[in-house]
Amino acid sequence: MQHLQHNESIIFFGAAHIFKSDNCMSINLSCFKDTDSPFLPPQGSVFLLFYFVLTVLPLLLLKIWLCVDNHKRKAVAWWLIAGVIMIVIEFIMGGVSRLTGSGLSITEWKPIMGAMPPLNEADWNKAFDSYKTIAQYKYLNSHFTLSDFKFIFFWEWGHRLWARMLGVVFAVGFIYFLTRKYLDKGMIRPFIVLFILGGVQGYIGWKMVESGINDTELYVKHTWLATHFLSALTLMCCTLWFALMLLVPAGKRVAAPGLFKGTIAVIILLYVQLAWGAFMAGLHASKSAATWPTINGEWVPAGMMERSFISNAINVQFMHRGLAYLLLVAIISWFAYAARAAKRSSDSLLTASRWWPLGLTIFQVVLGIATVLCAPLIVFAQFGTYEILAELHQLVAMFLLMSLVVNLYVVGKRA
Ligand code: HEM
Repeated sequence: MQHLQHNESIIFFGAAHIFKSDNCMSINLSCFKDTDSPFLPPQGSVFLLFYFVLTVLPLLLLKIWLCVDNHKRKAVAWWLIAGVIMIVIEFIMGGVSRLTGSGLSITEWKPIMGAMPPLNEADWNKAFDSYKTIAQYKYLNSHFTLSDFKFIFFWEWGHRLWARMLGVVFAVGFIYFLTRKYLDKGMIRPFIVLFILGGVQGYIGWKMVESGINDTELYVKHTWLATHFLSALTLMCCTLWFALMLLVPAGKRVAAPGLFKGTIAVIILLYVQLAWGAFMAGLHASKSAATWPTINGEWVPAGMMERSFISNAINVQFMHRGLAYLLLVAIISWFAYAARAAKRSSDSLLTASRWWPLGLTIFQVVLGIATVLCAPLIVFAQFGTYEILAELHQLVAMFLLMSLVVNLYVVGKRA
């Protein structure tokens, strides 16, 4: 077990959290024991947030329906916004799936037939037997009962089912709007791009899961996790961009080529930071240094140059923290630059929208620090304070990216 040898913190996430490697097999999952139904979600404020978003979605669909007759472009735009919200929910479910250690519970990829969960005891046992063949079960979860397995299965299955629903919402909406001639020629290409990105996303998702289905790895590879995360963000940004094309009137935009280039530079920096954030999550790196402002008492970790900046937990932390501070400085400079452009065109959206990246970055840095400091609170088999903070940290990262995409669109008006 290469992971177990070089990284002692690797075992504190699993189907739940295990701090001590030597007693990981003996800890029981008492808090899940009375979860008879695999479809009963656990308690926690993150789920309140989840259900809140779920109630917003029908309202948006209602809004689409209301504008169908009068404003064709708006109807299509709100359908796309509903898609963005569904993608955000998909992220939340993916985060919970990861934080409860559920990601490897389904060991096969059946894009169509996989929509059905096991329906009888024999099918459940078959799925469980398949899980028993992989390293995660053998070395981490060998104490699992069928009921424990059903719990982790629920989250992974829910994550995949929601992705399928996303595909259906896009496909049905596309056919509906196409046949009712709501889409002009120029709009068809963006939708083809979205379908391709959606398909690629599903395939990358499976490659990620596959990287953990073997006899040696306890978790999915963190590099595949990052690829899956970044490609999902790209899909989300493209969907949002196409919605903005239909929603934002020209009068609300500004022609500011310098600021446009600056915004692209900040988005690239943010993408790099998001990749290291996913490495943090995939390597469970927070526990390796649950201190701030120093990393285990050092500003620059000793022997850093001899280790990998992609696979070593301490180096990944160093990179993630460093990039966060760099990003904060970049966003403050960007904000000052945007303020000048906003003054020139007080009618534009920029007057308000330039505040979002600044506010969200400051909040995100504070949240990141709180998350890392809460790593010692991780409790085996509980979705507690750390997991809620980590989930929020992921959510705010997405909103930060979206706020920059909105600003990019606003300042990208042709002169
Ligand atoms: C603007 C700055 C930041 C951005 C955009 C950002 C973004 C992210 C993202 C996207 C993740 C992965 C979440 C996931 O896949 O679930 C992550 C993970 C993490 N980040 Fe940050 N981060 C920032 C700043 C910070 C700072 C300053 C710290 C601490 C000093 C920090 C600590 C963490 C920790 C501990 C995790 C792992 C959470 C987990 O276990 O899921 N982050 N970050």
